[in-house]
Amino acid sequence: MDQTLLDYTLSHMDEEPALLRQINRDSHLHTVNGRMCSGHLQGRLLKMLTRITKARRILELGTYTGYSALCFAEGLPDDGQVITVDHNDELRDVAAAYFQRSPFGSKIRQVTDDAILFLEQLNLNPSFTESFDIIFIDADKREYRRYYDLSLPLLRQGGLILADNVLWDGHVIETNVKRQDKQTLELQAFNDMVKEDDRVEVVILPERDGLSLILKR
Ligand SMILES: C[S@@+](CC[C@H](N)C(=O)[O-])C[C@H]1O[C@@H](n2cnc3c(N)ncnc32)[C@H](O)[C@@H]1O
Repeated sequence: MDQTLLDYTLSHMDEEPALLRQINRDSHLHTVNGRMCSGHLQGRLLKMLTRITKARRILELGTYTGYSALCFAEGLPDDGQVITVDHNDELRDVAAAYFQRSPFGSKIRQVTDDAILFLEQLNLNPSFTESFDIIFIDADKREYRRYYDLSLPLLRQGGLILADNVLWDGHVIETNVKRQDKQTLELQAFNDMVKEDDRVEVVILPERDGLSLILKR
């Protein structure tokens, strides 16, 4: 079969490390929605953005099986840290086992909590104000505006919010509003809100399911 442009792209960029390849494969085999895993292209991008921004502290909303947390950890310096939050305690040990097998796993702190409750707690603690270099929004698609509002105060000036799945399989351009689900409506509202927000600059990369790069001025 002819190779696709994606095949060509992936074969001409940094390889996917073996452990990450296994996480991706296991996620597809053993969990209901394996495509939630960031995967090769986005994973290498997350690592590179971490390095370009010289990030030291990263907050991730939505751990799932740990793929993206490990990509961020790989890009961080030795004393850097990723705090990753997920409310699904059944997946906690799955991700923890991968973190233990990785040379970068010691940079990851796992939190089992609802993302909004956790963000609210951080907002109450002044030591977390403007303390993160990158915040990755990748949990409940119906809560993106709330995540964004609660994340901005925690992000340093010049820091990045990365928001995943903002094109939602193309549903964001569907015109039949009556047939749209809550996720689609929220992602449309989120994209509109960020575009109008003078506090940030935004670029949407139409790779995979759409990744917004949102820079805090
Ligand atoms: C798309 S997956 C994350 C994928 C992961 N970041 C990656 O790229 O490999 C979304 C995760 O968000 C979690 N999640 C959904 N709603 C949440 C909530 N309200 N609070 C915390 N985590 C939530 C789910 O349990 C799921 O593991």
